[in-house]
Amino acid sequence: MRSRRLFSVSDLSQASRQSPGEAPLGELPAYVGRRAAGRMLRYDSDQEASGAGPAVPPPDERIGRADPAEAEKFLRLFHEENPEAGPVEPRLNQVLAQIARYGTYTHTPEELTFGARVAWRNSNRCIGRLYWQSLRVRDMRSVESAEGVAVECVNHLREATGSGRIRPTITVFAQDLPGRPGPRIQNEQLIRYAGYRTPDGVVVGDARNAGLTASAMRLGWAGGPGTRFDVLPLVIEDARRISPLVATIPGDAILEVPLSHPAYPWFERLGLRWHAVPVISNMCLEIGGVCYPCAPFNGWYMGTEIGARNLADEDRYNQLPVVAERLGLDTSNDRTLWKDHALVELNVAVLHSFGQAGVTITDHHTEARRFISHLEREERSGRVCPADWSWIVPPLSGSLTPVFHRYYDDVQLTPAFVQHHRKGEHDG
Ligand code: ARG
Repeated sequence: MRSRRLFSVSDLSQASRQSPGEAPLGELPAYVGRRAAGRMLRYDSDQEASGAGPAVPPPDERIGRADPAEAEKFLRLFHEENPEAGPVEPRLNQVLAQIARYGTYTHTPEELTFGARVAWRNSNRCIGRLYWQSLRVRDMRSVESAEGVAVECVNHLREATGSGRIRPTITVFAQDLPGRPGPRIQNEQLIRYAGYRTPDGVVVGDARNAGLTASAMRLGWAGGPGTRFDVLPLVIEDARRISPLVATIPGDAILEVPLSHPAYPWFERLGLRWHAVPVISNMCLEIGGVCYPCAPFNGWYMGTEIGARNLADEDRYNQLPVVAERLGLDTSNDRTLWKDHALVELNVAVLHSFGQAGVTITDHHTEARRFISHLEREERSGRVCPADWSWIVPPLSGSLTPVFHRYYDDVQLTPAFVQHHRKGEHDG
């Protein structure tokens, strides 16, 4: 049986950084001279007991190797858009030498910040890119232990959430190195609600997360109180990719908004709520051929994500029949448009409740207009703004927004956030 690695991030914030003896990020790749964190981590007790030591999966030859062509493309972009950084050649030569010697290289803090912001700018599916230059980058490249990742994820949540004025933020943990992958988080977002599958197949909570919920429980999580909105623990793997750490998030790092409706007092008795900050945590940040597998990032919500998908989709919270029933709508026939009517009221409730709670949220009309300004600004800067129509158009009232009435270049540029489907990862 796997050893149980349970961890509660309570007031361990000082445990976040690794030992001060870590190699600084400077001329040489950070891993040169890097030591393991200053304490013994237990991985798989059976393996250790057998005397054979932990079984480390054979490293994929390609993982952690930076493609020199990608590095060059990125460095040229960085120097072109940041003239104050001077000519590219000296830095390029240095990076190519590092790659030749170590298989990879380290970014300067300026390159990392720029790379992360441009990865957002290049996110074809994101309608909220107008503010890409304001992304706050938390450089945590020296953190590679699962415990360190858990602690800094909680600090990320606290900083990004504030008291409701949400700040777009990314935390970048250790990069992949040859033979030593960076850590990674199995949860698709830092805050996700459990989906408990009952013996009759019904799911209590968010069915999207049923797989991760079952897996966290197999790893030793006792489960939450059993409500429809129990926050899942983080499931974090370190370089060894065995026996993940299960880390619960302290409640005071999780801001949630109970939903009510401005006109219908019964609405709040439905007991619906949603968390304030969406922090995507299972996408890899790729910059100049370097892969950061653990780089959770957040913006703020657009109301429809919650009101027209999370709470409305039949395979998520499926709340339209409930709302329609309370509204007294005729649900006997699709042509009464009861779903459409209920959907609008649910979305009104989401925007109203976040507004009342002082939590940043945007509506799809405003955000669509902002996206068009962003696109025009990008074109004026001589860049293409890559976009995927099927993701940009909101799932409610699409044709009422300007983003509906045109096509986009759907090219994939780098730096980028990419989904690496790797063994043991949960989509939902
Ligand atoms: N749609 C996802 C959710 O509802 C969040 C995706 C990121 N959204 C954002 N506004 N940054 O949970």
